[in-house]
Amino acid sequence: MTSILRSPQALQLTLALIKPDAVAHPLILEAVHQQILSNKFLIVRMRELLWRKEDCQKFYQEHEGRFFYQRLVEFMASGPIRAYILARKDAIQFWRTLMGPTRVFQARHVAPDSIRGSFGLTDTRNTTHGSDSVVSASREIAAFFPDFSEQRWYEEEEPQLRRGPVHYSPEEGTHCAAGAGDPGPACRRPVGL
Ligand code: RTP
Ligand code: MG
Repeated sequence: MTSILRSPQALQLTLALIKPDAVAHPLILEAVHQQILSNKFLIVRMRELLWRKEDCQKFYQEHEGRFFYQRLVEFMASGPIRAYILARKDAIQFWRTLMGPTRVFQARHVAPDSIRGSFGLTDTRNTTHGSDSVVSASREIAAFFPDFSEQRWYEEEEPQLRRGPVHYSPEEGTHCAAGAGDPGPACRRPVGL
């Protein structure tokens, strides 16, 4: 965990995943991406990957022994997923609200416009994942983006992104600070990191 003192206005980071059910459908994948953009998240990093079963088991360790664990692990390793580091004020809670309830039947009833309410298929194939706390977010970001330093991001990129202006690159699918002159570290990083 980083030791930086963050101002109350600081952007918060969360890890969001788009699960195999949604990545397999280009229109749904694009719709979820658009929801991220239209809800004023900044996309700090994005990557697509195939997850090994062992990685899924580790990631979902807290659920080991629950009736859905095996099903969940198999499913998450069954096809490509997309991982995002998202930044926003109250990013963790905001993303979870946007996703809607875990269980799709409930999502359709209480939050029909949420991501899971709109696109979820079953309780396992429920479109997206979101970190549930600051501690989980740090752990999950490190698992998917091992080269990403949260501490350096808070020192170098967060202040620029918070102040703006911010540039969105449709090619890379990420945002970066777009100040006059020096584009800032977010715009200089190699593609994919
Ligand atoms: P997530 O971790 O995916 O963001 O969702 P969450 O916090 O709302 O749900 P959590 O309890 O952490 O469960 C992780 C994932 O396990 C699957 N699950 N299936 N009743 C069931 O069949 C059941 N309960 C949980 C879901 O795919 C859930 O997203
Ligand atoms: Mg969870």
